[in-house]
Amino acid sequence: MNKDQNISYIQNHLDKPLVLVGMMGVGKSHLGSLLAKELELNFFDVDKLVEEKAGCSINEIFEQFGEHKFRSAEKNTILELLERTPCVIATGGGAVMNEDSLSAIKERSLCVWLSSEVDCLFHRLKNAKDRPLLQKANLEQILTELLENREPFYAQAHITLQTTDDDIYQTLKNLKEKLSDYLKKDRFQTR
Ligand code: S3P
Repeated sequence: MNKDQNISYIQNHLDKPLVLVGMMGVGKSHLGSLLAKELELNFFDVDKLVEEKAGCSINEIFEQFGEHKFRSAEKNTILELLERTPCVIATGGGAVMNEDSLSAIKERSLCVWLSSEVDCLFHRLKNAKDRPLLQKANLEQILTELLENREPFYAQAHITLQTTDDDIYQTLKNLKEKLSDYLKKDRFQTR
């Protein structure tokens, strides 16, 4: 099936928000915005919305109010977005660790885990200054531990897509294939 057929199939059968979850640096925002554009859907980036509402950056929220405040704003934003009709939502890497967010995501969206090896994440994040959880020595160890803790939660997504350092357009193509295959199976099962 070619690209355009996958897109039309998804457009015709997606009846809820599409949520991307996965580790920092995996490409949720970039991939999500490209996919939303092709599907002609609105794109929402949870981190950006939280920053807009707070009027400051995530680093500043962590510094001034603590991670707890960020997590609560993150959860509220996700719950609000899930009230919407089909759209594409990129979550922050830690969003699935909140029980309420994860259960709402599982119930009210089609959720895709963008999975990646620590090596790939390390290369993408080694110079990142905008992720408060990574501003410590030994980035590789932090990423390994975060991934180990979070994997069981990411794995509850409806779809898992293994990403690599390939061209983002190849990953996008794989994502569209996975989505349309999932929607076909889902439709068949509910008949
Ligand atoms: C976080 C990931 C970040 C952002 C915050 C915390 C995490 O989002 O929400 O820095 O706990 O993994 P990205 O996954 O978009 O980098």
